[in-house]
Amino acid sequence: MQKNYFLSLLCFALCSSTLFAANLVPIPTQIKVDEKKVALGKKLFADPILSKDKTFSCMTCHNLQTNGADTVAFTKGVTGEQGLFNVPTVYNAVYNFRQFWDGHVKNLQEQAIEPITNPVEMANSLGTVLEDLKRSKTYSALFEALYEDGITKDNLAEVLAEFEKTLITPNSSFDKYLRGDMKALNEHEIEGYRLFKTMGCISCHNGVNIGGNLYNKFGIYQNAKSEELGRYNITHREEDKYVFKVPSLRNVALTAPYMHDGRAKTLEAAVNIMTQYQLGHPMDKEDLHRIVDFLNTLTGELPEIVKDMRVEGQ
Ligand code: HEC
Ligand code: HEC
Repeated sequence: MQKNYFLSLLCFALCSSTLFAANLVPIPTQIKVDEKKVALGKKLFADPILSKDKTFSCMTCHNLQTNGADTVAFTKGVTGEQGLFNVPTVYNAVYNFRQFWDGHVKNLQEQAIEPITNPVEMANSLGTVLEDLKRSKTYSALFEALYEDGITKDNLAEVLAEFEKTLITPNSSFDKYLRGDMKALNEHEIEGYRLFKTMGCISCHNGVNIGGNLYNKFGIYQNAKSEELGRYNITHREEDKYVFKVPSLRNVALTAPYMHDGRAKTLEAAVNIMTQYQLGHPMDKEDLHRIVDFLNTLTGELPEIVKDMRVEGQ
């Protein structure tokens, strides 16, 4: 008797904690930021001054007019050399628990300098960037108005990150539904949401970003034949081979191709890959289409702040 009682208590604790973890939460409609830092970060985000040959801005790979990413499996950097990972969107990245596919940096601020010095992205050196910015009267004045120490690596990272915080996309149909507008989703989409929960997608894709808050192995039931080792490169632990940050599914209808290597061109293909590698059981076509219908409801509104931003040369 007592043993049963203990077991049910244990189950209650475990089950309720899983349920709690598997919550989907709407994106807040506002986020607190320092407007002056945001304005400077915005200018820098779209300015090719950050790249080695002054041809690439952050916008070149993270097009804020469309999806905060690009549309190819792998992007070439300023040297023409190809990167190793599919570009993730910067939209809602502020809500990811770590940044990058392998989560090797903690937050947007730590992330911001890496693309500038990454040889397959902007291929610049930190020294050159800081010198170029200091040589610009406009940037010198703007930084000095905000910081006593003017242009530094940390201040540059801070303003870029502050701008990126504003890149949130609230009010998707699904968020409206979560907030109580039962008409925001049609029957197919509601059925897709139900399947997303019952099939177990929600065990990995959950929280405010419907992903972006935990790591998981890509290829649980079958080897996913990934060339990248993921977290293993950082921890060197056998169990971290092929472990990646579970990506956010926010705006996923806009961010094809999918997976860290861009192997899936469509949402149908991406969901198929998930059922095969992550769930280990097939899904009938009808159910797959319902899940895709649901994923299509996760597209939010682009923020006002990006309306006048353009990619160089477009
Ligand atoms: C040449 C293309 C390119 C340029 C230019 C570029 N990025 Fe990226 N960005 C990428 C790729 C590829 C990744 C994924 C790399 C990885 O996970 O290892 C990425 C990842 C990110 C992430 C992490 C998102 C997530 O969900 O993990 C953020 C944030 C980001 N970039 C911001 C920036 C900023 C800020 C700039 C400008 C200073 C910039 N990027 C310039 C290609 C680019
Ligand atoms: C056990 C954890 C787990 C489960 C369950 C799971 N996923 Fe994933 N999902 C991941 C991981 C990890 C990735 C990234 C894989 C990679 O590229 O390395 C991913 C990637 C995706 C992508 C691609 C996103 C992008 O931007 O590239 C989509 C779409 C997706 N999952 C949808 C689903 C759906 C729908 C289900 C349920 C049918 C599901 N996932 C079940 C862990 C999971």
